[in-house]
Amino acid sequence: MSKKKNIFLCISCGAEYSKWQGKCPGCGEWNSIVEAESSPAHTKPRRESKVVPLSSIHSDQLKRIITDIDEFNLVCGGGIVPGSVILISGEPGIGKSTIALQIARTLKTLYISGEESPVQLRHRANRLGLSSDNIHVLSSACVEEIQNAVRADKFECLIADSVQTLYTSEIPGSAGSVTQVRESSARLIDLAKSTGIPVILIGHITKDGSIAGPKILEHLVDTVLYFEGDFSKEFRMIRALKNRFGSINEIGLFRMSDAGLVEVSDKNSVFLNSVGSGSSGSAISAAIEGSRTMLFEVQSLVAFTNFSNPRRMSDGFDINRLILLAAVLEKHGFMKLNSHDVFINLAGGFQVNETSADMAVAIAIVSSLKDKPVPRDTGFTGEISLSGEIRPVSQCARRAQEFARSGFKRIIVPEKDASEAKKAFTGEIVPVKTIYEAIDRVF
Ligand SMILES: Nc1ncnc2c1ncn2[C@@H]1O[C@H](COP(=O)(O)OP(=O)(O)OP(=O)(O)O)[C@@H](O)[C@H]1O
Ligand SMILES: [Mg+2]
Ligand SMILES: [Zn+2]
Repeated sequence: MSKKKNIFLCISCGAEYSKWQGKCPGCGEWNSIVEAESSPAHTKPRRESKVVPLSSIHSDQLKRIITDIDEFNLVCGGGIVPGSVILISGEPGIGKSTIALQIARTLKTLYISGEESPVQLRHRANRLGLSSDNIHVLSSACVEEIQNAVRADKFECLIADSVQTLYTSEIPGSAGSVTQVRESSARLIDLAKSTGIPVILIGHITKDGSIAGPKILEHLVDTVLYFEGDFSKEFRMIRALKNRFGSINEIGLFRMSDAGLVEVSDKNSVFLNSVGSGSSGSAISAAIEGSRTMLFEVQSLVAFTNFSNPRRMSDGFDINRLILLAAVLEKHGFMKLNSHDVFINLAGGFQVNETSADMAVAIAIVSSLKDKPVPRDTGFTGEISLSGEIRPVSQCARRAQEFARSGFKRIIVPEKDASEAKKAFTGEIVPVKTIYEAIDRVF
């Protein structure tokens, strides 16, 4: 037996190091690096490999398993690829086991339930109205038993709920330790590749270092799906953070109900606050999420402060971008924001990563500062530069089309995008060159 060599893993970003460090150079997190045994998976090949011409590989091996959850198929890139490994991660209670069970309903599934008893699982299945004939439960999370169970019967899907409970008796360490999570998952990944059965791994996000987080598995699996949502609201989103078999731009949208996760019907406007109309401090913009265009509402609260250091806080929008926009509004929009706190929130827990949201954020701030509402039928899209100019956005026509579809009468767009917007929007199009001009046209 070769000498064991230990490695060091960052549980926050998954980076691997040869020696311990107090701060992870990869993600900047402190005290996130833990010692782990170097995985045998990396030192000894468990599958026999031989050289084959690529052309001899049949590409129809990539035939996908289409589940009856369209939104899930979408984020996976059009269905589950046989033999692929999908990691579903998210905060405790967000709905990981629920979606897993709903995926399992149409496939003959081996469900490894390390967290809940079979009785609890049966209760959930009943609540979700699933016929449980297809679902077979193994309450042991021991990898060797799982391998035996897979060999003994023909399954179409394997779900491990959760990776933090998996263990293999071949190596020391308790379930949940970095070494166990990594090694046990690696063996299930091997099982997926050798049998062609898709494997779904479930992992919670944990901040404290005692339980190994799903981050350390991200580079091992084919697809990483991240479950997010606002706990106070019923909306849940699944986002692909990595996908070897599809685009990572698609999001899946669900509503959590007693009967489980249901796909929302009006997907493009779930993030609009239908009741909040008429009050100041809100503006609506459009974001491109893969094949989908989403309307969302920016809410702002601007409040006077005596402190010399006014606060800027943001939920769903980049905080540094907000600080920058507030400075631009101060200098080029002539808004007295240095004596005001500025808070930004996107309705329904939406998160936007596009600069095209700039104009809506700026207008929402001005609306709150002036205490004048923005007309509800007006939409905004445009990036704001440091000099206060409104810059064009990508795919303006698609955004304009979504505004039109949702009954908007007027859109404020970058001047350079006006002709593109015209192709898709028959209402009033207001082209603007600067943020000053935009404020002037709205208020
Ligand atoms: N009648 C119900 N009983 C229990 N949960 C319900 C019910 N109706 C809706 N729910 C939702 O189901 C959620 C739990 O979902 P689920 O168990 O799938 O989450 P999870 O991500 O697997 O959590 P964990 O990390 O604890 O395993 C609850 O947070 C709640 O929102
Ligand atoms: Mg669960
Ligand atoms: Zn790190």
